[in-house]
Amino acid sequence: MSSALSIENLEKRFTPGVRPAVDGVSFDVPAGEIVVLLGPSGCGKTTTLRCAAGLEHPTGGRISIGSRVVSEPAKGILVNPRERDIGMVFQSYAVWPHMTVRQNVAYPLKYRRKAGGDINARVRETLELVGLGDYADRPVVSLSGGQMQRVALARSLVYRPQLILLDEPLSNLDAKLRIRLRDELRRILKMTGMTGLYVTHDQSEAVVLGDRIGVMNEGKLLQMAPPAEIYNRPTDAFVANFTGASNVLRGKVLSSAQGRATIDLGAAGRIEAWTPQTLSAGDPARVALRAENIRLGERGPANAFSGRVLERRYQGMQTVYDLELGGQKIEALELGTAARHPGEGEIALTLPPDVCWAYRDDGKTVDA
Ligand SMILES: Nc1ncnc2c1ncn2[C@@H]1O[C@H](COP(=O)(O)OP(=O)(O)OP(=O)(O)O)[C@@H](O)[C@H]1O
Ligand SMILES: [Mg+2]
Repeated sequence: MSSALSIENLEKRFTPGVRPAVDGVSFDVPAGEIVVLLGPSGCGKTTTLRCAAGLEHPTGGRISIGSRVVSEPAKGILVNPRERDIGMVFQSYAVWPHMTVRQNVAYPLKYRRKAGGDINARVRETLELVGLGDYADRPVVSLSGGQMQRVALARSLVYRPQLILLDEPLSNLDAKLRIRLRDELRRILKMTGMTGLYVTHDQSEAVVLGDRIGVMNEGKLLQMAPPAEIYNRPTDAFVANFTGASNVLRGKVLSSAQGRATIDLGAAGRIEAWTPQTLSAGDPARVALRAENIRLGERGPANAFSGRVLERRYQGMQTVYDLELGGQKIEALELGTAARHPGEGEIALTLPPDVCWAYRDDGKTVDA
């Protein structure tokens, strides 16, 4: 299948001499797929999206929509945003305050000079899709935030653009509504068969919405993969940390081959880990691990350790244990409403090798 959007080596430099906001980013969005760009504030997500839309002028690389090159600065190619057949939804609901819901949603069709009958049917159908069928004649200013956000969404869906770009469209909503619209949005995009590029700094949104997630940091795309792969096989220490593997154990590589490594953690002993990198004996290494993957009170066949509970924090739905392991601190998470382990003293721990990931330790911080 051809790609609806193809980004090759995209660069956007706002200020000469300063690190580019988008620094050699490449990825494809195949037709019908939803790709989510995830990363901390300032990593270049919005800039990437705005370059695709044509609202920002790239300084390097190539962007194609369908089979058409819409931006290639080296050849002086830059297609006007209006000629890109793209729908866009932003964080702030850009609705026309003096119009009704129906008028707002009809606007893009009128603007594109569609016939009258066609417009009414399309508008009705799209309002049903976003759950606003009964609100067509309400003034848009009388709606709640979530309803307005859905008007903005309907307005981008109504003319069936080949590609829809969404920049944190749910971030202004309360938590409950955000979760509902997040789920609805995936259903709507899949039902209409649209291709989507979605930007967020919220991992849970990325996981639910994305067919693939691209994690960005400092203008670079670090990894692009299906959600389960990002969560279980992060190829980069930053990706591991940003998606929640907040425990880091430091040590030195003892040996490594074929995606496996043995790391010497000093006083804690040796740990077996998966690694996406080619590590050499003696390299400083860090081992990343999610708090929920630590097995408390268990002595497994590999990576069984003896730790000490420093503090136990009951949080209702889960309990967090602050642990010490050979002089290093880690956190373990126990799901459920009852804490089953003591709040102090020695405890058996198993850190299953498959969910321990080793990376070369270049000394740089990976905390987002
Ligand atoms: N018009 C501009 N002029 C100069 N620098 C800019 C401009 N727009 C963005 N930047 C810079 O480019 C970098 C990337 O910004 P961008 O808005 O793409 O980040 P983001 O990932 O969308 O962040 P957020 O999650 O906060 O929205 C930032 O360092 C930002 O300050
Ligand atoms: Mg942004």
